[in-house]
Amino acid sequence: MVRKYVYGEPFETEAVVEKIKAEQGTEDTGFGRISLKNGFTFSCQMALDDIVYGLGEANRGINKRGYCYISDCSDDPNHTEDKRSLYGAHNFIVISGEKNVGLFFDYPAKIVFDIGYTRSDILAVSCEEADLYLYVIEGESPLDIVKQFRKLTGRSYIPPKFAFGFGQSRWGYKTKEDYRKVAKGYRKNNIPMDMIYMDIDYMQDFKDFTLNEENFDNFPEFVQEMRKEGIRLIPIIDAGVKVEEGYPVYEEGVEKGYFCKREDGSEFVAAVWPGYTHFPDVLNKDARKWFGGKYRFLIDQGIEGFWNDMNEPAIFYSQEGMEALMETLRGYVEKGVEAIPIWELDKVQGLSNSPDDYKRFYHCVDGKKVRHDKVHNLYGCNMTRAAGEAFEEIVPDKRLLMFSRSSYIGMHRYGGIWTGDNKSWWSHILLNLKMMPSLNMCGFLYTGADLGGFGADATRDLVLRWMALGVFTPLMRNHSALGTREQEVYQFERVEDFRGIIETRYRLVPYLYSEYMKAALNDDMYFRPMAFVYPEDSFAANVEDQVMLGDEAMIAPVYTQNAKGRYVYLPERMLFVKFTGEGGYTQEVLEKGHHYVEVALNEVPLFIREGKCIPLVKPARCVEELDTSHPEMVGFEGAEYVLYEDDGVSKDYEKAENYRKLKR
Ligand code: NOJ
Repeated sequence: MVRKYVYGEPFETEAVVEKIKAEQGTEDTGFGRISLKNGFTFSCQMALDDIVYGLGEANRGINKRGYCYISDCSDDPNHTEDKRSLYGAHNFIVISGEKNVGLFFDYPAKIVFDIGYTRSDILAVSCEEADLYLYVIEGESPLDIVKQFRKLTGRSYIPPKFAFGFGQSRWGYKTKEDYRKVAKGYRKNNIPMDMIYMDIDYMQDFKDFTLNEENFDNFPEFVQEMRKEGIRLIPIIDAGVKVEEGYPVYEEGVEKGYFCKREDGSEFVAAVWPGYTHFPDVLNKDARKWFGGKYRFLIDQGIEGFWNDMNEPAIFYSQEGMEALMETLRGYVEKGVEAIPIWELDKVQGLSNSPDDYKRFYHCVDGKKVRHDKVHNLYGCNMTRAAGEAFEEIVPDKRLLMFSRSSYIGMHRYGGIWTGDNKSWWSHILLNLKMMPSLNMCGFLYTGADLGGFGADATRDLVLRWMALGVFTPLMRNHSALGTREQEVYQFERVEDFRGIIETRYRLVPYLYSEYMKAALNDDMYFRPMAFVYPEDSFAANVEDQVMLGDEAMIAPVYTQNAKGRYVYLPERMLFVKFTGEGGYTQEVLEKGHHYVEVALNEVPLFIREGKCIPLVKPARCVEELDTSHPEMVGFEGAEYVLYEDDGVSKDYEKAENYRKLKR
């Protein structure tokens, strides 16, 4: 049962697609109290054992209790434990205990979730303005609530099947030769791969929808050269459009008035990679259509996927911010002060992503001027929507790969997300795992982290362990930052260990894709917290380092350095399958309870539930070349599995022949 309450005059975020009649919001929703004294505050009491799920891309645990999270899309590459905001704003939570309730705060600006932080038994959600929709969802179980919420917000994005292959990325590839080297590194070592990602250096001076003229002449031919190797190139698109006379995207945008403007009507100027840029006003329908149409430039040259970046939007500094700082510093110089106080210099850092800048520009939504900070969390969502809506027009019958850094609920219909600039830290393997079910609750199914870590130097063992988790995330991509240690898998000794792990992914693609499609088509979850599957098992409720995958499996990655294995909790009897290098696997039935399982660095652990089985195929160079006609079934004797399979490209999802019954 879903109830929708309206407070004040909400901005229409379009997160929800189902039409529900809104009731006038009062101070009592039947669940929790609302105070309208200082903006808006929802509060309710939590029982000692209540668990709070949700918030999608957020820090810390699957159970969000005990911290304060802030939905305020932020370009922050340091995901330390104290951080409250990451790149996304996913304002959906489920309180699970005696009663189960889902709450969605459809509010496009900064909103604070104090989940037992100020007082351990109080959940308080507050925002500055009392203009929002509050959805209260009741259901039998957390999963039931999630499914209702997902139905409310519409079907999750479905990528092409090739997107379930492995992808290599690194910030710093510049020339065709760089890409050829990566392709060769994989192909020469017989390691499957489907995608190489193109970071900002493919562009001419970081200008969106351009190609570096010197390095990428005859680009369509190069795209085909890679396709012959079974590889697709996936370019990045950034939010900021370079300010440069003679650059058509800039000139057109200015002429049509499609960039975000200051109060006085001039275009807002923000420094990002290209230098000074303007932000396309993707909240404005016409500008969105215009910007989306620009992706055609690359689609026409054979490109079949993109990633959208810097769309919080990230601002290194604004013209205003820089001028104010320079003035302060000049003041010291003029006064003859030699040692400028350190706190003034600290302001240099404070220039980036400053809240003041988000108040300096406006959107034009249905003819109305809306200050950016009031709708800040919708920018990345609408940039990706721009692309998604355009794809429907440019290639209506074909799926394209699309994922974004910043997002709001609703964007899950247009693309996936990656979890941004993590680090080559062991703790970030675990953070990656914990985020996955929370993201699924909010509709983001196509998701994954930068495997091996983006920032900091990776070690071989970390990359192996992280990739062994990445085997199961729909987006499986190794990505790293400029200046860090190179972490393409062939950079490390004993490349066969990496080959074994990536081959395991390809052997599992039919199963993973099938579970993904079932989750997407049924508004269901691909990754679930254990408590969603074993609600009666009080121990399962506390497990934060294992998650359920689809209906058949459980994953429990190793995430500590030098560990020979790990402890694992089995809420029921399971088949412990360990994929070893060279295409083999071992299997052993483990009884319900606690176990220590050994997992070598080159092995991938997977647990199959009692009475279930999954299909396995032979690996291939790329997803398209997998032979799925006669899968081997692994699991319990007599078990059956219904495999979903389609052409992986078109959008005719519902055909009966897409389902095939397989038996162990
Ligand atoms: C920030 C993104 O998060 C990262 O993945 C990318 O490599 C850099 N921008 C450079 O484009």
